[in-house]
Amino acid sequence: MKHLLSTRDLARDDAIRILDIAEDMSEVSTREVKKLPALRGKTVVNLFFEDSTRTRISFEAAAKRLSADVINFSAKGSSVSKGESLKDTAQTLAAMGADGVVIRHPASGAPQVLAQSDWIDAGVVNAGDGTHEHPTQALLDAFTMRRRIHGTASRGKALDGVSVVIVGDILHSRVARSNLWLLRTLGAEVTFVAPATLVPVGADTWPATVSFDLDATLAAVRPDVLMMLRIQSERMNAAYFPNAREYSRQWGLDDERLALLGPDSIVMHPGPMNRGLEISAGAADSAQSTVLEQVANGVSIRMAVLYLLLSGEREAHA
Ligand code: NCD
Repeated sequence: MKHLLSTRDLARDDAIRILDIAEDMSEVSTREVKKLPALRGKTVVNLFFEDSTRTRISFEAAAKRLSADVINFSAKGSSVSKGESLKDTAQTLAAMGADGVVIRHPASGAPQVLAQSDWIDAGVVNAGDGTHEHPTQALLDAFTMRRRIHGTASRGKALDGVSVVIVGDILHSRVARSNLWLLRTLGAEVTFVAPATLVPVGADTWPATVSFDLDATLAAVRPDVLMMLRIQSERMNAAYFPNAREYSRQWGLDDERLALLGPDSIVMHPGPMNRGLEISAGAADSAQSTVLEQVANGVSIRMAVLYLLLSGEREAHA
């Protein structure tokens, strides 16, 4: 594996391998000395053209736990705000000897452009591009589901037959897209629930069921996993629903809906949460919520991905 740009082209065996390596990495994170020498002497650049806290620090922690040197480059306050192009930025990073580039960009496809260019020969990890994909988020979500469902017997397992309901702002969500492809590859069933205005054109061709009615879906599907998505106001240039109260009433996870879920169902959210809008505080903090596990597992998944992309194996392919 040279780059990780999307979950769409990830083979089932490769996906399971990443999850299994992340299991090993999570053991490292429980040690007193949380460090492996695997990427000593390598340089990882976090290239963030969009605001982010948890994803950036998660990649930073992952790279540092593998002993890589980390350079954080955020577009605000950099030459990018002076009009420097992606090409010039990439060539600058190449001249500095970057081995890996973790890129978040508001334009869908930017990581692909970087990976396919001859500006830089680094391994590229997509950390979220526009509304397109966010592959490490989907991998950490799958890892979290697998652990809750299979426990200590997770290694080697997929998610066959697991029912996952993903609710909310599908239109703007790269998390929803990356999850769809990966979950299907791992054998799970996916249902999207959203107001019609937040379902993208073309979703009817996706390998998922689309519904506009949360209560009917919860009653019919009785999901193993209920994933709530953030309302992405920063990407909204129009009114997609009447108001916040109405949204919560119809599509939010409130305490009554939480009580209707089976005791083994889990509640997920990629963060950052709008408490009181798409998820109530009670649901977010409940025993069924995996929100903090997702954050912890994110470091293990990113360690696994950086390890696969940047450790010795990569030179053999070059
Ligand atoms: C997600 C993202 O940026 O796509 N968040 C994240 O990675 N922490 C989801 C979101 O912003 O709603």
